[in-house]
Amino acid sequence: MNAGIIGIGRSLPEKIVTNFDLEKIMDTSDEWIRTRTGIEERRIADDQTDTSDMAYEAAVKAIENANISAEEIDLILVATVTPDQPFPSVACMLQEKLGAKKAAAMDISAACAGFMYGMVTAKQFIETGTYKYVLVVGAEKLSKVVNWEDRNTAVLFGDGAGAAVMGPVSEGRGILSFELGADGTGGKHLYQDEYVIMNGREVFKFAVRQMGESSINVLEKAGLSKEDVDFLIPHQANIRIMESARQRFELPEEKMSKTVRKYGNTSAASIPISIVEEVEAGKIKDDDLIVMVGFGGGLTWGAIAMRWGL
Ligand code: UT7
Repeated sequence: MNAGIIGIGRSLPEKIVTNFDLEKIMDTSDEWIRTRTGIEERRIADDQTDTSDMAYEAAVKAIENANISAEEIDLILVATVTPDQPFPSVACMLQEKLGAKKAAAMDISAACAGFMYGMVTAKQFIETGTYKYVLVVGAEKLSKVVNWEDRNTAVLFGDGAGAAVMGPVSEGRGILSFELGADGTGGKHLYQDEYVIMNGREVFKFAVRQMGESSINVLEKAGLSKEDVDFLIPHQANIRIMESARQRFELPEEKMSKTVRKYGNTSAASIPISIVEEVEAGKIKDDDLIVMVGFGGGLTWGAIAMRWGL
């Protein structure tokens, strides 16, 4: 039995904050942000909206898109580093809001690689026949943990959520291979004290190396080569990091998701938000081979090679 994505949805706050808006509140410029990161604007949630609200909206859409009911979900996994509170988990809050009565529920803390960790965890339950449907959500309200006086980090992040219902798909479809990893010795380069603290240059070096290695590794594990890749969804942190992964695959520009421009870095939500965007734009089609690769605080990383479709 193969595990794949059978329904998707996302939620993005309405409020758009452009680089020009940030110029007015801190010592930065649209030019610096665009050329160093690729970001042009990001979405910021209002005071009434927390991580669980965005997670819920994305989840409702994904469940509808999967054509199942919430009561059929066996497990809810929410990847987040910005839960509403330490506990109960966002996953438990979702379980209540959705009325997913039989679902077990827990959050996953693997920062920007969280959605990859969630999908791979779901795969284990589905492929062993233990569970049929697993709801995997990446949801973040990073704006509440960003120091708006620190230009090194404040310009990078955005809020949002993306969700996928995972379930059994036909042979040859779904997750073909994966790689997860962690290096706790690098934890000091990206962490939250009161606010997010980051050594940008160190994270940059790690990200370029790891994204390249992990994405090639999953292809090898699946017995495929870079010529087989139809679409690349890297974690949307910085266009320069993403470009290095794309060049390694020798993929044309239009075959890589670049939602970072509009949404900034939404941590665990960036990959599922991109999946929805690219499927809706017709860029990911039935039978396409897609490679997803994330990295983040921990340090953590994860990559998945997946054949799209049911
Ligand atoms: O989800 C995972 C999370 N994180 C990442 O993926 C981040 C990875 N790292 C990066 O994306 C990049 O390192 C950054 C975008 C954070 C920074 O780009 P950089 O090219 O590595 O710049 P830098 O840190 O070397 O800083 C260059 C200069 C510094 O000035 P000095 O010291 O050279 O005078 C900074 O103070 O740019 C300055 N700077 C800014 N200037 C205008 C830093 N932030 C800003 C800003 N506006 N927002």
